[in-house]
Amino acid sequence: MYLRDIWYFALPGESLRPGDLIHKVLLGEPIAIGRDAEGTVFALRDICPHRGVPLTAGRMLDGKDSACGKSVVECPYHGWQFRTDGSCAFIPSLVPGQDVEVSRIRVRKYPVCEIQGNVWVYMADEKRADIEPDHQPPMMPGFGDHTVANIRETMTFSCHIDHAVIGLMDPAHGPFVHQAWWWRSTASIHEKAKAFAPSEMGFSMVEHVPSSNSLAYKILGGKPTTEISFRLPGIRIERITVGKHRLVGLTTVTPVDENNTEITQSFYWTMPFLTAFKPIARHFLRRFLGQDRDMVNLQQEGLRFDPRLMLINDADVQAKWYHKLKTEWAAAVDQGRPFENPVKPTTLRWRS
Ligand code: FES
Ligand SMILES: [Fe+2]
Repeated sequence: MYLRDIWYFALPGESLRPGDLIHKVLLGEPIAIGRDAEGTVFALRDICPHRGVPLTAGRMLDGKDSACGKSVVECPYHGWQFRTDGSCAFIPSLVPGQDVEVSRIRVRKYPVCEIQGNVWVYMADEKRADIEPDHQPPMMPGFGDHTVANIRETMTFSCHIDHAVIGLMDPAHGPFVHQAWWWRSTASIHEKAKAFAPSEMGFSMVEHVPSSNSLAYKILGGKPTTEISFRLPGIRIERITVGKHRLVGLTTVTPVDENNTEITQSFYWTMPFLTAFKPIARHFLRRFLGQDRDMVNLQQEGLRFDPRLMLINDADVQAKWYHKLKTEWAAAVDQGRPFENPVKPTTLRWRS
């Protein structure tokens, strides 16, 4: 099962031009995500309420071609037209006097938010589909609403969202999975102690000077500080500050279905000189994320047999928090009460 009543990252805004209509599966549900002629993004259930054809197999019509004068999605089977709010605008087969209340026919609409180049979709539980979201999707600190990511990479892991989230937050696998001359090696393993505190919908590793064995940080020049925060449903934001400059990494984890999870990593930065490093940065990003993917895919070979698993102290405490946060979120939504963050300020110690 998935966490509901929460925003999930759907896709980069730059991949949707006006008039585009894209099919995505989020949390096992087919969704049509489109951008109308005015530039506004919308999301509808990708199933025509007439006879079930995916609406994304149809086309978008702008105001001058549609029956209602607004942008609509036209189903390819019988040409029914749907407004971007999901209401039916036109049924071509009707003759005068056939009183079908066209606008009462609806396809489910999902709340959408496009900010900083990210398109987020609010996945409410079916029985709360008409309730508006009570919180906002995350923002990258220190960047404006219209900033877009400098680089991105998307990959699909063949696992349930929980294993993808835990795999990405896990601090102990670095020296084994990500061995590389420019990052970490098993020879450099040493003890770490990091302070954690509860933060919005999750927890943060409090601002600190990054570990001395990360050569990659040195490339940035100056003395960087970093803060890493995690929030439900599977969002990690790492902010590195060097003097007046900042670099923010956003990792989003979105379930496609029970066995497939889409990971998108996006980076935002204020240092103009980093643009020159884009191709190489993309190369390393792909390799790094690919190492995580290969490991969780390998993990599936064992998980097929449904073994008991362990979470140990302190290296797996963040994974324990993730489970607690999820349980609390689901309970709070179910009982219609405010979410109470179960994480307490703590210092975690591990070797990596
Ligand atoms: S199935 Fe969509 S219009 Fe008939
Ligand atoms: Fe990793």
